[in-house]
Amino acid sequence: MNEINVTGQSGRSRILIGETLARLGRYLPEGRTVIITDENVRQLYGSRFPEAEVITIGLGEAHKTLETLALIYDRLIAAEADRATFIVGIGGGIVGDVTGFAASTYMRGLRFGFVASTLLAQVDATVGGKNGVNFKGYKNMVGVFNQPEFVIIDIGLLKTLPAAEIACGLAEIVKHACIADAAYLDDIERHVAAIGALDETVLRRLVRRSVEIKAGVVNQDEREAGERRKLNFGHTLGHAFEKTLGISHGAAVSAGMAMAAELSVARGLLTQADKARIIALLQRLNLPTALDFDRQAVFNALQKDKKRQQTQIHFVLLQGLGRAVVQAISIEELGRWLLKGR
Ligand SMILES: NC(=O)c1ccc[n+]([C@@H]2O[C@H](COP(=O)([O-])OP(=O)(O)OC[C@H]3O[C@@H](n4cnc5c(N)ncnc54)[C@H](O)[C@@H]3O)[C@@H](O)[C@H]2O)c1
Ligand SMILES: [Zn+2]
Repeated sequence: MNEINVTGQSGRSRILIGETLARLGRYLPEGRTVIITDENVRQLYGSRFPEAEVITIGLGEAHKTLETLALIYDRLIAAEADRATFIVGIGGGIVGDVTGFAASTYMRGLRFGFVASTLLAQVDATVGGKNGVNFKGYKNMVGVFNQPEFVIIDIGLLKTLPAAEIACGLAEIVKHACIADAAYLDDIERHVAAIGALDETVLRRLVRRSVEIKAGVVNQDEREAGERRKLNFGHTLGHAFEKTLGISHGAAVSAGMAMAAELSVARGLLTQADKARIIALLQRLNLPTALDFDRQAVFNALQKDKKRQQTQIHFVLLQGLGRAVVQAISIEELGRWLLKGR
């Protein structure tokens, strides 16, 4: 097992890589625990849960809402949960985001932890202390920063994860390599076949490196004032693709990274050869790098990007492999680049 720590304003979060769901009980304090999970995870792994009250939420982004929170508060009240109750979210990023927010707000905040069961949750969503829900179509509009006490990363749980969900996690893994570590990119390139076969040793090494990178960034900038923005590589365009095309986050981010790499080349920061390497790797991982999209619709979505500050977007570019730079780009310039079809 490897332990990596994230230290935020609300305290320290222990990320336990290679720990297992079966051993969750060892991390729970004396007293009552309430588990929050989703329908799939309960069905697949409910038999491994420790003895506890279980609250099951519905599947998909449509359930990452204030209504689901209200349902959870109702269940917590019915279970007579109090300030001493410990909350554990067992599932993917949606369970994590909802659980973290529910635990952070019920009675002004209960102690909580996670068992991350998707690759995306293991390398991204449960690391870093962002919790929240969607509101009126705006993603993650309402939430809090608050670190879970622990995150159990059980690699074995990935065996039942559908391939499309694995791909979503892989997009974030490639992102971590692109922004922070060229040697990590080599490692991924060398092990594409093992990744496809869900080789536990390889996956565990990748998850560990990704968590190290994300934790390192969050430790410098928990609240996203600067350094943490680098984690948005591929996401500015990615979010616009996700919204306008209705495709998965991973696919959208993959295409977003390919285009951000292209813009990096156009700005003289990245070589054609390095861009080609990123694109080839994404393709080998079955991720899309070119989408057929409505340029005007994507531009309109970009203009609504909540991370936009007035007329500029903090756009993440690559200054060589393994090195991200954030540049303020005006919406107009991005629009011109996008609309001219490059
Ligand atoms: N808080 C953050 O910093 C952060 C970062 C990135 C993403 N997110 C959020 O994470 C969410 C996406 O997370 P996700 O991709 O894990 O989605 P998810 O939670 O919807 O899980 C994907 C699917 O896999 C199923 N599943 C989970 N574990 C499984 C397993 N072991 N075997 C089989 N099926 C399993 C789930 O039931 C679900 O149907 C988004 O809402 C996103 O906003 C948050
Ligand atoms: Zn992402």
